[in-house]
Amino acid sequence: MHTSMTRRTATACQWRVVAAAVVAALAMAATPARCGTQGAKKVSAVIVFGDSIMDPGNNNGLHTVVKANHAPYGKDFAGHVATGRFSNGLIPTDFIAQGLNVKQLLPPYLGVQHTPEDLLTGVSFASGATGFDPLTPVIVGVISLEQQLAYYDEYRSKLMGIAGEEETKRIIDGALFVVCAGTDDIANTYYTTPFRSAEYDVPSYVDLLLVGVESFLRNVSARGAKRIGFVGLPPIGCVPSQRTLGGGPHRSCVPERNAAAQLYNTKVQELIRELGKDTAAFPTLVYIDIYTVIQDLVDHGERYGFTETTRGCCSTGTVEVAVLCDARFAPVCDDVSQHVFFDSYHPTQRAYKVIVDYIFDHYMQFLHL
Ligand SMILES: *[C@@H]1O[C@H](CO)[C@@H](O)[C@H](O)[C@H]1NC(C)=O
Repeated sequence: MHTSMTRRTATACQWRVVAAAVVAALAMAATPARCGTQGAKKVSAVIVFGDSIMDPGNNNGLHTVVKANHAPYGKDFAGHVATGRFSNGLIPTDFIAQGLNVKQLLPPYLGVQHTPEDLLTGVSFASGATGFDPLTPVIVGVISLEQQLAYYDEYRSKLMGIAGEEETKRIIDGALFVVCAGTDDIANTYYTTPFRSAEYDVPSYVDLLLVGVESFLRNVSARGAKRIGFVGLPPIGCVPSQRTLGGGPHRSCVPERNAAAQLYNTKVQELIRELGKDTAAFPTLVYIDIYTVIQDLVDHGERYGFTETTRGCCSTGTVEVAVLCDARFAPVCDDVSQHVFFDSYHPTQRAYKVIVDYIFDHYMQFLHL
């Protein structure tokens, strides 16, 4: 739980000690500086919408092949439990909740018995393989973003039951909302199935996604979200499965798929700038870039202590994900800490930690956290 945020808090705290010492010396009256994480601004809750990057197990009860509730998923999780998180251990939402001193694990909304405290401090509605294209969740039988909002409404009435109206408003006002989706739209719906690519070229498909993004963000805003972090797309062409499908004999990154992700990222940033002009509806809406840090992990893994950047740890590491990444017929790698990716699509816990540290270092101040 020693994330960069705790490091940053310590640094800010050291500054306060220095400042307090100077003030104390000047005033000739030494008042002890109060330090520690308690001094940091407190986020009331972390509330998350999105896809597998943020899904702690909402897909477990669904009739879909997109699940991670079997070994080797969770092999490095406490108790080696496969919770449904698409990684060997923690996922970004857990590191975000930890870094903000909210809690250790961000639970899924579905399928677990929450304590009241767990509900009050936030949950994730994210569902692996969903997206902004309404067709994306339908193809694989997972939870649409629209349905995630319906679950949020149900969640909110549970908060009202536990804490009352005033406290619920305080929690929502003080919550960090995170939205992360879009990878499956491009990697799966567009490039893997024929349903959209027959009718749309990449720019027009990106425009279709942006319609979904805007509609979703307006719906989140209408529900009272004050602080929204919107996560952009990674270099999709560099994840192991996409290298296998489109990267030729050397499994290079697929330039066309990376270009699609970058076009989306550029356009979504323009949209967010436009929406942000309406400060009443979007007091704090921040675009969070993960493309750069993941590209750096892939290009210069050695800087972070990774030796394997193109193959997942699960089985051959070239195609296996979800139902195909299964310990019953797929062995895992010897040393997961050397791998950027755990399956052919999702980063390892250690790579996720690098990514979330980057997010804290670059964006949390803009979210006023
Ligand atoms: C947003 O809300 C409107 C009105 O309730 C609904 O028609 C639309 O599907 C929602 N969009 C998303 C992406 O949730």
